Amino acid sequence: MIPIARPTMGEEEKQLVWSALESGFLAQGARVHELEERFADFVGVPHAIATSSGTTALHLALLGYDIGEGDEVITVPFTFIASATSILYTGARPVFVDVLLDDFCMDPSLVEAAITPRTRAIMPVSLYGQPADLPAIAAIAERHGLAVVEDAAQSHGAAIRDRKSGTWGAGVFSFYPTKNMTAGEGGMVTTADAELAERIRLLREHGMKVRYHHDVLGYNFRMSDIHASIGLAQFAKLPGYNARRREIAARYDAELRGVISPAVRPGVTHVYHQYTIRVNRRDEFVERLREQGVGSGVYYPIPVDRQKPLVALGYGQERFPVTELLTEQVLSIPVYPSLSEAEVSTVIAAVNATAVELGPLAVAAVPA
Ligand SMILES: Cc1ncc(COP(=O)(O)O)c(C=O)c1O
Repeated sequence: MIPIARPTMGEEEKQLVWSALESGFLAQGARVHELEERFADFVGVPHAIATSSGTTALHLALLGYDIGEGDEVITVPFTFIASATSILYTGARPVFVDVLLDDFCMDPSLVEAAITPRTRAIMPVSLYGQPADLPAIAAIAERHGLAVVEDAAQSHGAAIRDRKSGTWGAGVFSFYPTKNMTAGEGGMVTTADAELAERIRLLREHGMKVRYHHDVLGYNFRMSDIHASIGLAQFAKLPGYNARRREIAARYDAELRGVISPAVRPGVTHVYHQYTIRVNRRDEFVERLREQGVGSGVYYPIPVDRQKPLVALGYGQERFPVTELLTEQVLSIPVYPSLSEAEVSTVIAAVNATAVELGPLAVAAVPA
């Protein structure tokens, strides 16, 4: 079976973790600092703050902008739940706008109508490795005096022309095992705003600058040096990993038939955290692929606003037609760097045979 994800761990990871263990320094230290410096440099911003996960990084980015009770943050319902729950953790309310059918990201034309006097920030999600339309969203944010918190959990190294994900407002990355690079668990906030970076650092460490002198209500959202060691080894391989993901995606683009392949906006460098197609009769499609030895994944089967914790808060009544359609049709196929050419060929043959069997998409556009 070709699994949907397969993290690649090598000697470099083992050696760095082992040396961290031997040093006796396990918590946040020099390794975390080194990963922050390298990651900031890679993204192209002066500041990067490492955290225990992408979720805590989102939470801290919002708190860094002083977002809380009574505030609203505009985001999308077609994403992983942490985009929304991180907003809820602060006491603010997520306000959802639909995504575009072609790039699966926030539809900028819907944002202005969702702005109210309570709106403090916009959180676009750069889904599957393609940056959302950040120039358009940042222009709206600027006109209305709002912060931009990009959920870049899936878009390490993605770019719009020469500007990388993570350079608009605050960028938030995840180092979960299936991501383009991993630290086991971990996250990172990137920003050009020195004051924001300073507040986030303070909040990450119990609100403490001087040992045992606490200035604000803070958290322990630190990354450990053990995790940063994995992260440093992976970071060195990220450009190669992304190049291989793009190479596999190019084969899929050229050779897949009878399914809708992901669209890439002009000028965008997509890093294919996922290669996500739209298929007819998805449950049967998944089953047929499995029978042919190909794993697949559905990201995501339920709009976030219809998940139980949000329904309990009164969400789930609004209609988001594009999200609703996508949650029924999207299917991600293996695209990680350790796939061999033979495995890529197996995936292509299985998808193409299944598409012939199950027929073309019955509903390709959003019903009027
Ligand atoms: C879009 C998105 N946002 C947020 C997160 C949360 O990251 P983490 O799992 O590192 O907490 C993830 C990853 O799982 C994600 O895919």
